[in-house]
Amino acid sequence: MPRANERTHAPNIGVLDSGVGGLSVLREIHRLLPDFPTLYIADQAHLPYGPRPVEELFGYVEAMTRFLVDEGAVMVVLACHSASAASLQPLRDQYPHIPFVGMEPAVKPAAEATRTGVVGVLTTKATAEGALYGRVLARYATDVKVITQVAPGLVTLAEEGARAVDEAERIIRHYVEPLREAGADQIVLACTHFPFLADSIRAVAGDGTYR
Ligand code: DGL
Repeated sequence: MPRANERTHAPNIGVLDSGVGGLSVLREIHRLLPDFPTLYIADQAHLPYGPRPVEELFGYVEAMTRFLVDEGAVMVVLACHSASAASLQPLRDQYPHIPFVGMEPAVKPAAEATRTGVVGVLTTKATAEGALYGRVLARYATDVKVITQVAPGLVTLAEEGARAVDEAERIIRHYVEPLREAGADQIVLACTHFPFLADSIRAVAGDGTYR
């Protein structure tokens, strides 16, 4: 018989993001591990994460991690590039018994696949300025040109649903066209909100590889 206040939660994979973006990661977890319980938390009170400083983001992500661990998480997925940029390493240091999975912009496969030698990256300010992205570029993008486009308007579009937003097409065009004009044939969606916009981006910007 459990005592009052005793946690009875089953082991689960905890997944966090600033909003709905991490659901694009959660659906992959469900596809790979359909029977494993998951717990998803979205910090919509502080959305968007992208424009916020690293120290501030770490505070929010640490609080959500503590909640998930208290609720039985045996692994925590930072389903957010901005949160990963700010928190992945400090959280690994702070919770050595919990494995953390973070997001890394898909520059490596894009750099390997490009035929034009130009890779576009759509992302947030926090990710673009984070040390993690710097390391990814230094490691995988030495032979290609990478154009980094910070696209906060796309986070709002994804959160609200592109079809529900007037001028969605203009907003997408504003961010994606400069990448196309610069010759990018690979566009990296380095924010977990953006896969939900892939069809809309393709409709505006044409075929190409979005990853
Ligand atoms: N989904 C997030 C990311 O991958 C955060 C976007 C935001 O809140 O600005 O970066």
